[in-house]
Amino acid sequence: MARIDTTDLSFDEFDEIVNPRPEENDFDRVVEAAISRRGFLGGVLAFGGFTALGSTLVPTGVQAATNRFAFDQIPMSVADEVIVPAGYKYDILMRWGDPMWSDAPEFDDATRGTAASQERSFGDNTDGMDVFSHDGKTLLVVNNEYTNRDIISVSAVDRRIVDEGDIAKGMMAHGISVVEIENVDGAWKMVKDSPYNRRITPQSEMELTGPAAGHDLMKTAADPTGKKSLGTWNNCGNGVTPWGTYLACEENFNGYFSSSEEVQDQKEVSISPELRRYGINDEDWGYNWAVIDERFDVNKHPNEPNRAGYVVEIDPTDPTSTPKKRTALGRFKHENAESVVNNDGRVVVYMGDDERGEFVYRYVSNGVYAPGAPTDELLNDGILYVATFADDGTGKWVALTPETTGMDQAEIHIHTRQAASAVGATTMDRPEWISANPTAPEIYCCLTNNKNRGVKPNAGGDDTSVNGPNPRAENNYGQIVRWRPDGGDHTAPGFAWDLYVLAGNPTVHSDAYAGSPNVNADNMFNSPDGLAFDSHGLVWIQTDGNYKNEGDFAGHGNNQMLAGDPVTGEIRRFMVGPNECEITGLTWSPDRRTMFVGIQHPGERGNSHWPGGGTSVPRSAIIAVTREDGGRVG
Ligand code: FEO
Ligand code: CA
Ligand code: CA
Repeated sequence: MARIDTTDLSFDEFDEIVNPRPEENDFDRVVEAAISRRGFLGGVLAFGGFTALGSTLVPTGVQAATNRFAFDQIPMSVADEVIVPAGYKYDILMRWGDPMWSDAPEFDDATRGTAASQERSFGDNTDGMDVFSHDGKTLLVVNNEYTNRDIISVSAVDRRIVDEGDIAKGMMAHGISVVEIENVDGAWKMVKDSPYNRRITPQSEMELTGPAAGHDLMKTAADPTGKKSLGTWNNCGNGVTPWGTYLACEENFNGYFSSSEEVQDQKEVSISPELRRYGINDEDWGYNWAVIDERFDVNKHPNEPNRAGYVVEIDPTDPTSTPKKRTALGRFKHENAESVVNNDGRVVVYMGDDERGEFVYRYVSNGVYAPGAPTDELLNDGILYVATFADDGTGKWVALTPETTGMDQAEIHIHTRQAASAVGATTMDRPEWISANPTAPEIYCCLTNNKNRGVKPNAGGDDTSVNGPNPRAENNYGQIVRWRPDGGDHTAPGFAWDLYVLAGNPTVHSDAYAGSPNVNADNMFNSPDGLAFDSHGLVWIQTDGNYKNEGDFAGHGNNQMLAGDPVTGEIRRFMVGPNECEITGLTWSPDRRTMFVGIQHPGERGNSHWPGGGTSVPRSAIIAVTREDGGRVG
């Protein structure tokens, strides 16, 4: 099969090309979907708000006079710079390739470094992150999700890295960076050579824990125990546990595997259906890792992909600790992991699987969390559930057990997507970040977009007709769904849901694609992705969307960050990023006077020189946003 030019493709578009879903040509079904869409949204819009969904979550007055925002909204931008509101400023905290130890060289624009320098420097494409206070120190833990192949490797061909040194460098740009930071005269800086600094890469030793550990499907030639894997990669969003560890979520882990099978046009022979459900194919995305590390060749090591796609728990306070992959939390394209301690002490983790038509999950520990008591089993011993949403504004969690799925316990935690399909989970429009409101028992989840909604089934063949929380066919804008657990109990079997916002473009459309009433010409956006509540209960929304600023997206400008009021529904634009970036990752300093925000993949199509300007190489970076008056920012 000819190599695919990945120049203009996103991860999931590539997956779809190498592993196409069956087209659905049932005209009647498409018409039926369109009718139900009009009915659903007509009901919502007729009430001028969201109360028609039968939920009491939201008052209807989306333009209420209250103002919990400490800033004035900024306009959209197409400038190659970060824009923040009047009264705010930002500094660069750290960039891809900044050395974390003094034995590593400064970033070199000409070469973009080496594998050796990259292993001792901040990784590429900053994503989920969190701050930890420990022993008087401030530790920032950051996912380095992936690398732009044609930026990190000057000799890449059609975004395929061919030079073996650059393949290794690209690998070392992935993983997690643990960095001590300190505030010097009002500005946060990396503490070079801190004993806490650590790079966790695709070659770092991991422990496999939970129900899938040791199963035959987890054993490889290098690890006959099935309990020790090497490395973590494509870590997207994150989470923190109540006991102060970091959760890194493995998302598009599939795109790094390929097959040396000679007859590549018979991929259905060499790639099992179980692997294909996760997008594993005979071709990778262009990282070429199998060239330097045979375990990424699924023809030779078909179980290796079963050891990725998990939530990884990391203790940032102990640089010698072994990260633990928590298979109890399921295997899928994990976006983030939002933990809540339920009223009875059980730990509940909400998680999304970011692919078109995949699902939303909940994990509930069997044990209870007690400060100071052992925590190691809390993320090993519990029950995994998947969400079903009914059109009437209610929903249920369905336990994934041998009885409900017909699969054994270990298999449920390895082939989790298949288990969820077996119980009839609701197909969603790409679940991205999930965040818990600290001021109310409610959970928000970004559903970023889904051009296949109402068009064709998901990778498992599940129906993707429009449904309650995913009400628009060919949904290029995305929405945010939220739910409130029955009785305020996060372990309850049921919940009530509604939509916080339907993104859209009211300057182009006058139907459901215009968006919900809290979207207007001044605050519009598409593809909500990152999501985090601040301590005041405002919800911050980060976008990873179409930035072409034309057609359906005219007036949306570059990717951006907005803040929303859960009570009034009002949404205001706070930040716009540089060209061709995504805004992702958000956390705060312990005193809440600095907001750390990730600027990922500026110039992914070759049209940015941020942050250096001039003719410099674009570099993902974390910025530190503060108020000019020194006040709190969340
Ligand atoms: Fe890495 Fe779903 O974003
Ligand atoms: Ca994301
Ligand atoms: Ca995204």
